[in-house]
Formats: sequence, C-alpha cells, structure tokens
Amino acid sequence: MLQKFDPRNENILVHVNGQLVPRAEARVSVFDSSVQGGDAVWEGLRVYKGGIFCLDRHLNRLFESAHALAFQNVPDRETIVNAIRETLRANYMDDEVHIRLTLTRGEKITSGMDPRLNIRGCSLIVLAEWKPLVYDNEYGIRVITSSVRRNGPQFLDSKIHHNNLLNNILAKIQANVAGVDAAIMLDANGFVAELNDTNLFMVKDGTVLTPPADVCLAGITRGIVIELCKQHGIPIVERNLSLTEFYNADEVFATGTMGELTPVREIDGRPVKYVCGEFTARISKHFRAFIPANCISILP
Ligand SMILES: Cc1ncc(COP(=O)(O)O)c(C=O)c1O
Repeated sequence: MLQKFDPRNENILVHVNGQLVPRAEARVSVFDSSVQGGDAVWEGLRVYKGGIFCLDRHLNRLFESAHALAFQNVPDRETIVNAIRETLRANYMDDEVHIRLTLTRGEKITSGMDPRLNIRGCSLIVLAEWKPLVYDNEYGIRVITSSVRRNGPQFLDSKIHHNNLLNNILAKIQANVAGVDAAIMLDANGFVAELNDTNLFMVKDGTVLTPPADVCLAGITRGIVIELCKQHGIPIVERNLSLTEFYNADEVFATGTMGELTPVREIDGRPVKYVCGEFTARISKHFRAFIPANCISILP
C-alpha cells in the first residue's frame, strides 16, 4: 500500500535544531552526519487522543542507540520531550499523528566519516505528520521473502535503531517489484527475522510465536505484544522460526508503530490459513485497551 500525500501536512511546522520552521524551510546542512554517512538514530512515535504513546520506551531506545554510536553532546530527555510537545502544539496535532524523531551526530566541519569532525553536537529533528495507521488492519497485507538479509550483530547490530536503512529499502524494492506490501528478511542462517519495516508473529495450535530479537529490531510494539500475551495467559514463545513454519501457520501478523497489529494474508503466494483470526483479533483488542494508560499528555 503506497502512502498518499495528506494535504493537512502541506503547511506543518518542523522542529530542527531548536527552531520551529515551515516544512519548505526545514532542512539540515549538507555537512550534517546524516547526509555524509547516514550517521543518525531515529524513532517513530504515535500520538493518540492528546497523548504520546510509550514515549519513555522510545526515548530509552533512542538514547541507547546514540550511546552505542558514541554520539557526543546528546540533548537531554527534557529537551527532546519539550521539542516534541512544542511541535505538536504548534501544529494543533493531538490524534492520528506519527512523529519521526531523528537525532544525527550533527554537522561536520568538513565532509568525511570521522566523528572527530563533529564539533557542534547532535542535530535533533522532530517531524510530526498527520498519518492514520498505514495498513488496512482488517484486510491485511501480502508479503514475499527478500533475498536481502537482515543485519545481525556480526555486521550492524539491530539493537541500534540507526538510519542505515539500505538493506531494508532494497528488500522493500523487491516487495514493490513483486506487487506486494512488504518483504520478509531472513537472518544469516535463513530463519525469519522480520519484515522490512515491522516485526512478525505467527500463531500455531494456540501458541503465539515470534523470532528472538537477536537480528530483528526489538520493536516497542513487539515487546508490548509479548507482555500482553503473558499478562492474558496466551502462550508466547520466542524462538528461531523457518519460512516453512510461517507458511503453515494458523495466523500471521506484523507489529509496528506505523500500523499497530496488521494481519498477513499471503506469504510468497501461499495464503495464510486465517486472516485476522481469533488470536490476532484478541491481541489487537488487548493492544487497543493498553494505549490510553500508556500515553503521556502533550501538555506540559
Ligand atoms: C525494521 C523495523 N522493524 C520493526 C519496526 C517496528 O518497531 P516499533 O514497534 O518500535 O515501531 C520498525 C520501526 O521502526 C522497523 O524499522
């Protein structure tokens, strides 16, 4: 499904390095580390009815990613939270909003990859857009398997939520060429890691299963789904899973901030047995009920 331009986003204000600027003027320097080397970390957050969902979990992952990449002069939590709130309030945004929060290593004194060329500290971008859930969570999505492997800790640890997204983009191009919504990325051993943009779960004989977060992104939504299963007595197992197991699953669903829980209806041309079956529907209901108590207000 190709996202369309939403005219409500035509005149939004974007927070760039401490200033709110109109969309058309929102930019970083050509010397910025994100331009020079994709040297940045990011989070995707969602706003529901006046609250930012799981803000602390997202900021924890952002700070851990920045620390792993040895960023210097990282803005503190309060500065980032204020920037997010200011952006939402300036745009009168309080629901059905997606925030792309990006922290780059900052502007360099000359082009190059060496972090010692960064003397000005990080660049912070808060891009909030009107964006309802990106997939139709009743119809579901069709996926193929990509030939591009998901990076694991032996190359680039997926515990860092970084902007080097070319593996995932190449996988997405394969999905586009195949005329489907997303692509499954395997790990170096051929087990399923995740989709190019979301985590994957399957259900078999009453048990929910998902790959361990060794190679896939440790998604916030993924973590919540695991917690909710445990809390509601739904058997949940994290283990290596092959494509054959996914082909023969009773239900398959993807998870992510962009789309919450999205049923998968077809994998590599094989129809999934039940689309939005009993477990997907039950867990989605628990997830919807989890949202209100886990949003922090946009107001200070
Ligand atoms: C590759 C990948 N997998 C999964 C996810 C879902 O993660 P979350 O639930 O934290 O949005 C994302 C979101 O950024 C992603 O980029």
